[in-house]
Amino acid sequence: MCGIVGYIGNLPAKNLLIEGLKRLEYRGYDSAGIAIASSTGFDIERAVGRVSNLEAKLDGDTGFDGTIGIAHTRWATHGGVTEVNCHPHTDNGNKVCLVHNGIIENYAAIKTWLAERGHVFNTETDTEALACLIAELYDGDLEAAVKAALREVTGAYAIAVLCTEEPGVLVCARKGSPLMVGVGSGEYVVASDPSAIVAHTSRAFALDDYNVVRLTQDSIRTSTIHNKAVTPKVMQLELELDQIELGTFDHYMQKEIFEQPHALRNTLRGRVDRDEGRIVLGGLLSCAKELVRARKFVMIGQGTALHAGMIGEYLLEDFAKIPTEVEFASEFRYRNPIVEEGTVVCAVSQSGETADTLAALGEAQDKGALSMGIVNAVGSSIARTTDAGVYLRVGPEIGVASTKAFTGQVTALTMMALFLGRRRFLSVEKCKQMIGDLETIPDKIEQVLQQAQQIKAVTEKYVHRENWLFMGRGFNYPTALEGALKLKEISYIHAEGMPAAEMKHGPIALITDGMPTVFIANRGAQYTKVMANIEEVRARGGHVIAVATEGDTEIESVAEDVLWVPEVAEPLSPLLTVVPLQLMAYYAAVARGHDVDKPRNLAKSVTVE
Ligand code: AGP
Ligand code: GLU
Repeated sequence: MCGIVGYIGNLPAKNLLIEGLKRLEYRGYDSAGIAIASSTGFDIERAVGRVSNLEAKLDGDTGFDGTIGIAHTRWATHGGVTEVNCHPHTDNGNKVCLVHNGIIENYAAIKTWLAERGHVFNTETDTEALACLIAELYDGDLEAAVKAALREVTGAYAIAVLCTEEPGVLVCARKGSPLMVGVGSGEYVVASDPSAIVAHTSRAFALDDYNVVRLTQDSIRTSTIHNKAVTPKVMQLELELDQIELGTFDHYMQKEIFEQPHALRNTLRGRVDRDEGRIVLGGLLSCAKELVRARKFVMIGQGTALHAGMIGEYLLEDFAKIPTEVEFASEFRYRNPIVEEGTVVCAVSQSGETADTLAALGEAQDKGALSMGIVNAVGSSIARTTDAGVYLRVGPEIGVASTKAFTGQVTALTMMALFLGRRRFLSVEKCKQMIGDLETIPDKIEQVLQQAQQIKAVTEKYVHRENWLFMGRGFNYPTALEGALKLKEISYIHAEGMPAAEMKHGPIALITDGMPTVFIANRGAQYTKVMANIEEVRARGGHVIAVATEGDTEIESVAEDVLWVPEVAEPLSPLLTVVPLQLMAYYAAVARGHDVDKPRNLAKSVTVE
């Protein structure tokens, strides 16, 4: 959600900042704004809705020709989606101008203190309080004023700040919300993630919590809000611009669904050795002994990442025989969890910036857990604060609805379970066989994708229905949850996933004539049980859409529609059975005319609680 871009250099900042905001649109937002430093103060423009609305307004504006500026996409937390509440925000004297991602939790107390000193507030936002606080504390040094203000603040922030008293200076800071600095020659680009930086430079560093960076065109100083010097770890961004271009696809989600075979080949590359029955995961080696001797794993995450973690539970207990639990990160962080010796907490996250997951990780680390991450975004907060981890390597995921990151997470968890299993009780033979099966997954996903038009046709038969059920068992119970989440988050159709056996404990009351009920009915240990559940739905008029194994001759007699997946070992089956569900969600959203990549109210990375 939301995004920040800042620029200080020799080029006209306006278009560069707008292009940067467009690169961040996928993160989700509701309005946008820009400020360019000028000889008389700040040229500011704001617009509700898309960045293109802001661009259109700028076309009619004069000024905005400076080389230093800040820009923002807002995901409103305090104050309605109105032009007045759009960032950038300034103090009453228009001395300080800033943009902010996050929440200033103690903004009300700060506003009271400031009001007693004559400050007047023109917006409903928490952010305006920070702008006024920095102005109030300004005493000739913007960096010092920002630090003094942030020492008074509780909450989360990524900010970029300008001041009329110090033209040529840009100060940025972060706590809890991501922010990076791209290091160019004679210029710096500040942004929420690499996608807004790579067009200008491939060298960048991520700010850590409580970091403050003071930039001029030819200098950079990084320190903490308590004035402790920091040496930034500049890294080479692996991201290439073409990875974030849409290409010939209609939507990023569509591209990323069809990209999965290629993406998972990257996830597997150099990490699986079938002949030796070995898994090579460099990010686990430093803690391999502790991981192998773990007494318990706790998987934490939100949304799709949690669903992947749930499959991880089945995989770890099956291959490595390590007791594993799964928890919503948002629940784990607040329930004062018991974290005993030998506990490994594994955070699953595409962005590596999800606020609840990051906070839950910190809670677990404070309680002495060994921490690891299953993360896609290289250098993200979760990746940088864990003891070990496995990068997905599926490339940037732009669509808000997670697809290739989900299969990437499940693939990484499968490799981790085999890595640990081989160091525990898993035989070489079993490992070789599973690695061999895993290597066939990309090709098998390609086979599933070839049915796209059939899947589209089935979806369109039911797209007018407002309630769907998704059911699965064993490894595919989490897949059913994922299918339901995909459908509801982009088509806005209400959908519920559950273990197939759970249906009789209440949800079966929902079955109405013709109701679409999706069963994951691939060949597996509980196949006959799933078939029985299908009969129960049919007996009550439900229409069964079955995801089944090619060659199954029974399923067509009980299902209205069948979507086929190739034969595969049951532990790996979610990697195939999820693909028809992803495509159904995609085609349902397209049929309903929704913005597939930027669904309403949603953000790609939920960096606030
Ligand atoms: C998935 O389609 C959703 N966009 C959402 O549930 C997402 O999986 C969740 O917010 C977790 O994000 P993360 O993987 O970046 O931590
Ligand atoms: N809390 C601020 C507001 O509501 C910033 C929200 C965001 O991160 O975009 O304006």
